Amino acid sequence: MEASSWDKMHVVIVGFLLGLACPVCGAIQRPDYDDTPTPEIFNTSWMAEIPENQPLSEVTMPGTHNTMALYGGFLAQCNSWPLAQQLQAGIRFLDIRVRHIRGNLTIHHGISYQWAHFGEVLEDIEVFLEQYPTETVLMRLREELSETRAIYGAVVRYVHQYAHWDLLWHSRLMPTMGEARGKIIILQDFSGPDLGMRYYSLDIADYWQVSSLQPEQLDKKWMNVYNHLERAEVGNKARMFLTYSSGASILAHPSALAKRINLRLYEYLTARAGQKKRYGIIAMDFPGAMLVKTIIDFN
Ligand SMILES: *[C@@H]1O[C@H](CO)[C@@H](O)[C@H](O)[C@H]1NC(C)=O
Ligand SMILES: *[C@@H]1O[C@H](CO)[C@@H](O)[C@H](O)[C@H]1NC(C)=O
Repeated sequence: MEASSWDKMHVVIVGFLLGLACPVCGAIQRPDYDDTPTPEIFNTSWMAEIPENQPLSEVTMPGTHNTMALYGGFLAQCNSWPLAQQLQAGIRFLDIRVRHIRGNLTIHHGISYQWAHFGEVLEDIEVFLEQYPTETVLMRLREELSETRAIYGAVVRYVHQYAHWDLLWHSRLMPTMGEARGKIIILQDFSGPDLGMRYYSLDIADYWQVSSLQPEQLDKKWMNVYNHLERAEVGNKARMFLTYSSGASILAHPSALAKRINLRLYEYLTARAGQKKRYGIIAMDFPGAMLVKTIIDFN
């Protein structure tokens, strides 16, 4: 075994043992994987350098899968940085699941309540965009475990109450970078009139049911990510591509999978660093700040 791959093995083994000893306490900060409360580096306004007339579909950007799943133990937790810190680290795609209950939109992951409501998500994004008006935030929005699947009315009410109507991009068409600055772009994963772009107009790879951490299962997951990134690089530039590196099951909880897949993703991307490439959105669990930076630097 070469020294460098031995070092990588070493990182994985130590990471795994720490993970066993302390599955949720937040102990690991690597370039590709981070389950501590704070990112290593920030890049608050990287979109400032993207030309006004560039369609947003041509921007390569880091995102988080299940952005607000910060609690619930190792089976439910997908991220450890609070939303404000994710945005400051450079994350620009959010995956938000709301539960509609007694008129309120609360944040859930499965049955695990996340100690937040949708208004707080909107407030955090608005504060960030006021401070960094060159940026835009894309937000996949869907309901999960609601009393009703009809969340459109409640979402509109929350936007008026906790943010303001003009904070949204009100079209299903692809904005340019200039048009998107200072706005939230909802990627609407629910029915009703247009509140933004339609989530399923994106070209999406979301192979999340990874049944175990066996090498062949990890390879299958990684090949799905790899193939979609290769397609995004050469694919239709008017179409937005979205690749999830995340996944979970009883035998492969999100952090255990992220420790392995984020490493492959980081190796794949660093091998191509220094070039201009369109990979679209890469949505991750527990990304490390260097992985985030590597994605940003393809623009
Ligand atoms: C949820 O609903 C209750 C009453 O229906 C209200 O008092 C409370 O403020 C709501 N919470 C949020 C976060 O909107
Ligand atoms: C932030 O990202 C931009 C664009 O890639 C880059 O030019 C800049 O150096 C980055 N800043 C930091 C602090 O990493």
